[in-house]
Amino acid sequence: MKKHIIMTIMLFLMILIVLTGCGKSNNEKQKTMRVGVVLYTQDDAFINALTDCLKHYFEEMEDENLKIIMTVRDGKDDQSVQDDVVEGMIDAGCDVLCVDLVDRTAPSKIIEMAKKEDIPIIFFNREPVREDLMQWDKMYYVGGDAEQSGIMQGEIAADVIHADEGCDKNGDGRIQYVLLEGEAGHQDAIIRTDSVVKTLMDNNVKLEKLSYQFANWNRAQAENKMTQLIEQYGEEIELVLSNNDEMALGAVAAYDSMGYPEEKRPIIFGIDGLSDVLVAVEEGQIQGTVYNDKEGQARQMAKLAVDLYKGNSLTGYDFKDEKYIILSYKKVDASNIKEYIIDDTGAAK
Ligand code: BGC
Repeated sequence: MKKHIIMTIMLFLMILIVLTGCGKSNNEKQKTMRVGVVLYTQDDAFINALTDCLKHYFEEMEDENLKIIMTVRDGKDDQSVQDDVVEGMIDAGCDVLCVDLVDRTAPSKIIEMAKKEDIPIIFFNREPVREDLMQWDKMYYVGGDAEQSGIMQGEIAADVIHADEGCDKNGDGRIQYVLLEGEAGHQDAIIRTDSVVKTLMDNNVKLEKLSYQFANWNRAQAENKMTQLIEQYGEEIELVLSNNDEMALGAVAAYDSMGYPEEKRPIIFGIDGLSDVLVAVEEGQIQGTVYNDKEGQARQMAKLAVDLYKGNSLTGYDFKDEKYIILSYKKVDASNIKEYIIDDTGAAK
């Protein structure tokens, strides 16, 4: 009888140890999640700012049970290089991938490798073709609404033009404009270009197109292209529409280095709301931009990555078609620039 009681007590203690995980320190219980972030290039101001935000939100999501290691790699603007980088990250044992594709129409190799190892992919910024995204249930896209950004840029520009007759420098009732385009084939470039022009026309601005130039989202390339345009058209240019802020800054740099006085310059508009442009809007060199919510995108990516890693049910997301998380843009011009300058100084918005 006594033996029987001792055996029962021992069994009870053993069950207790198993159930409470007794004996393990907190540290041993901490899991490590490895996130591989693969950029299309490390030479893009908006993408670098977004990556900094992502790091911040991953750090915020760590706790005593979860350590997060985020590794960032460069796709070097070459899809086959990016494919190799992803392969290396998978071999090194990453748990979730965040990929900004070089070529948004060519994700097949990456999808195939990730699917084979059951590693979820969050694509961001460069939207894969819908059919590709639908291939597997562990793939998502986080980005902005390209059409909305073009519409907002057009609305800000129309307001500035209607408020100041002086924008029509030659007084011919039309606004002669040039457009700096991001990159052939990029959804943001194509859609922003179409929607900004359409919005200006819908808002009763008569436009005359002088030239469209690709400058690959890049400040230096835009400065080059803009210098050529100024040499060709001079003061005829009344409006510069740029698919992003970096290229808008390139346009300002071209006018600066050609010594154009303020009154002879066109009005200039960007998209992104990067800190240099916020300062340029405050100082009046650029008349407006559209805030590309990098903080919101990064926060959603970090949360989604952790939920996918933990196998949590995906509640609390504003999914479109169960795959897309699309963040809104915001207009920024002289009327509200102060809010953005303050917000941009420190902690993420
Ligand atoms: C941003 C650009 C950036 C591009 C890269 C766009 O959404 O507005 O600044 O260069 O994404 O893919």
